[in-house]
Amino acid sequence: MHLENLDDDLRKLLIDTTLSSMKKNIILIGFMGIGKGTTARAYAEKYGSFIIDTDDLIESKTNQKIKDIFEEKGEKYFRSLEQDCANWIESSVEHTFISCGGGFYNVNNLKKLGTVVLLDASYDWIYNRLLRAENSRAKLKKRPLFSEPKKAKKIYKSREKDYKKVADVIINIENREMKDIIKEIHSGSYI
Ligand code: S3P
Repeated sequence: MHLENLDDDLRKLLIDTTLSSMKKNIILIGFMGIGKGTTARAYAEKYGSFIIDTDDLIESKTNQKIKDIFEEKGEKYFRSLEQDCANWIESSVEHTFISCGGGFYNVNNLKKLGTVVLLDASYDWIYNRLLRAENSRAKLKKRPLFSEPKKAKKIYKSREKDYKKVADVIINIENREMKDIIKEIHSGSYI
């Protein structure tokens, strides 16, 4: 196909689509508390990549804690901040390992941001991981949607299939060592 024979709009669309499908980021998704941030930090330490976290970006942009945003402005507003964050990543971020808040998989341009890698585990495993953590109370407290375990389990059930639908790669992490998990992510050279 000769690009010069196409009309300008069509040519631009084709180039934009090709470029965005080539975006080289790892987009790490998964349920609250599964360890996306920990995985990102371990990955960065081992492979020297840059990492960012969507919740951290939102907190620094708004100068507010996620918990306070939920309390003061509500979940819908928080989701709009996630979409802003996704738009910025799409336009400005490359070659970066991005750990995402548990609901970030719903942004409308997720697949344009990079290779979507899902960390997967059962609800009980995730909950026990949080309970066993050194700063367990703080970890639960900072997550407004984890304030009641029963409700969190419902959210888990309602998202389970959708996480898998949007993922390019699914990694079950139950009882696996971190070094193996990050090796598996790296072996695909997604960045
Ligand atoms: C949320 C997950 C949280 C945070 C917010 C909402 C969710 O991030 O974005 O509390 O909807 O699952 P973590 O997945 O890092 O807990």
